[in-house]
Amino acid sequence: MLVGITYDLRADYLELGYSEGETAEFDHIETINSIDSTLQALGYQTDRIGNIWNLTRRLANGDRWDLVFNIAEGLCGVSREAQVPALLEAYSIPYVFSNPLVLALSLHKGMAKRIFRDLGIPTADFAEIHTITDIEKVKLPYPLFAKPIAEGTGKGISSMSRISNKAELQTVCADLLQMYNQPVLLETYLPGREFTVGITGTGEKAKSVGVIEIILGDKAEQFAYSFENKENWKGRVTYTPVSDPEAQRAVQTALDAWVGLECRDGGRVDVRSDANGIPNIIEINPLAGIRPNYSDLPIICDFFNIPYQELIRRIVDSALERVPTSTEN
Ligand SMILES: Nc1ncnc2c1ncn2[C@@H]1O[C@H](COP(=O)(O)OP(=O)(O)OP(=O)(O)O)[C@@H](O)[C@H]1O
Ligand SMILES: [Mg+2]
Repeated sequence: MLVGITYDLRADYLELGYSEGETAEFDHIETINSIDSTLQALGYQTDRIGNIWNLTRRLANGDRWDLVFNIAEGLCGVSREAQVPALLEAYSIPYVFSNPLVLALSLHKGMAKRIFRDLGIPTADFAEIHTITDIEKVKLPYPLFAKPIAEGTGKGISSMSRISNKAELQTVCADLLQMYNQPVLLETYLPGREFTVGITGTGEKAKSVGVIEIILGDKAEQFAYSFENKENWKGRVTYTPVSDPEAQRAVQTALDAWVGLECRDGGRVDVRSDANGIPNIIEINPLAGIRPNYSDLPIICDFFNIPYQELIRRIVDSALERVPTSTEN
């Protein structure tokens, strides 16, 4: 079975002149090498396709694959993560991870929160700031938390994101609107414990691979698992496997969100408790980072004795259930 791999290699974009910020979510060559060698170890033939521009060229050439392992984050627009899967669907090529609808929806944190709310899944109250005058309409109590509505990897998140008064609200929202050119998501600040839950599988077969607590140390940027804390976590952030009742409740919330949004194959859900110790969903990551020993999902798996190869096997097996003739490989 031939498995194509689609991805956005950070180094390629840096070479083309894109900035560190624009490419922050893109992948390191080590991630691609690991996925490729693991798929081969699982018995698949592999083909590195690369980004959407390479994919379009290859499709136009008539190339096809039995399955595509897609981790392309995309470059342009709020539906950027949906673009490669949409193209693959148009050519009836099966792929791993969620469909375009889910990928676009989950990247827009405000839209995703409306669905969580509708499903009865706890999520912090929020407002969307489209222009700076919108802050006059905000009725939420301080402290608040502000972030770009559709970014990942902690982009736009720092200790400044926690807001305690109107003056800070004005400055932080104005800065974020200007820097990220998209609405700001303003939420009530969740002061409790933070968890991230690894999930594999789809629908009723979805299960947690484990939950870890994210604990910010003295040297960490305070208040949030921010861009700085994510990029330079060593010596700042402690990751601890947990199984106490609050952690178990976080897992259930994460699974409810995963299944409710119809996410597929594997990913990660970020959860943080409110002032009453109730885990609230922060956001869902249906295209989670999978760089070994670095990204949160493989780190969770390490803690719970799930080897990297087993993680990839579970993801691929889940995707293969959507492929009618998937028995030979
Ligand atoms: N409402 C909130 N209250 C308190 N802290 C929050 C809130 N929303 C986000 N945070 C903090 O900011 C961090 C990053 O937020 P979020 O997960 O939305 O960003 P992201 O950039 O999409 O993350 P990822 O790297 O997982 O893609 C969270 O892990 C948490 O520490
Ligand atoms: Mg997150």
